[in-house]
Amino acid sequence: MSDSGLGFSHNRFIALIVFIAFLVLLFEGASELGGDMIKAQVEQTTFKYHPEKNAENRLKPVMVLTTETAIDNSMEETSEAIAADWTAEGSCEQIIESNDMLQFNLKEMVVSSNCKEVTVTLKHTGTMPANVMGHNWVLTNNADFMPVAQAGGAAGADNNYVPIGDQRVLAATTVIGGGQETSVSFSIDSLVVGDGYTFFCSFPGHYAIMKGAFKVI
Ligand code: CU
Repeated sequence: MSDSGLGFSHNRFIALIVFIAFLVLLFEGASELGGDMIKAQVEQTTFKYHPEKNAENRLKPVMVLTTETAIDNSMEETSEAIAADWTAEGSCEQIIESNDMLQFNLKEMVVSSNCKEVTVTLKHTGTMPANVMGHNWVLTNNADFMPVAQAGGAAGADNNYVPIGDQRVLAATTVIGGGQETSVSFSIDSLVVGDGYTFFCSFPGHYAIMKGAFKVI
């Protein structure tokens, strides 16, 4: 009968040592695994915010905004430049463009009271036909604009959407379609410097958008 001197058998002592060694190994292994997991977690979390990594993805939204702003600015600059060219004081020859998007390219037209006669040329830069996207250029004073526009719609395509013999109509062109142009010449003797006049397209439904101010200076 052997005795370790510790109060239990030699075999049980060996078994205890082996068990403790096993526990130590198990603990070390677990620590290493846990350490790796924490390390991976930290890397994943900080990766997005690292000053050099992933920078492209973080900057993307800013770049999209910059691009859109640039497009808007360029369009504004273009239309402003055109408007500046075509509202020159004293010009008795006015040119205005319309398109397939229900737009005139001018919001304001200015003529000099010195003009014996004013000629307005309307161009249609679109491609749609006159019965679908037709445009004309009609001039009235501000107060007559709405009632004449509505009466114009009722007058029908055969009358270029302009009421026949209506004294409120100061000038009007024919209706044109894409690729066409038309013009009207008229005296501005009856127009008063400083009064408010409106030009518009009387094709049904267009006058709400296709309109602008006509000024005599
Ligand atoms: Cu129109």
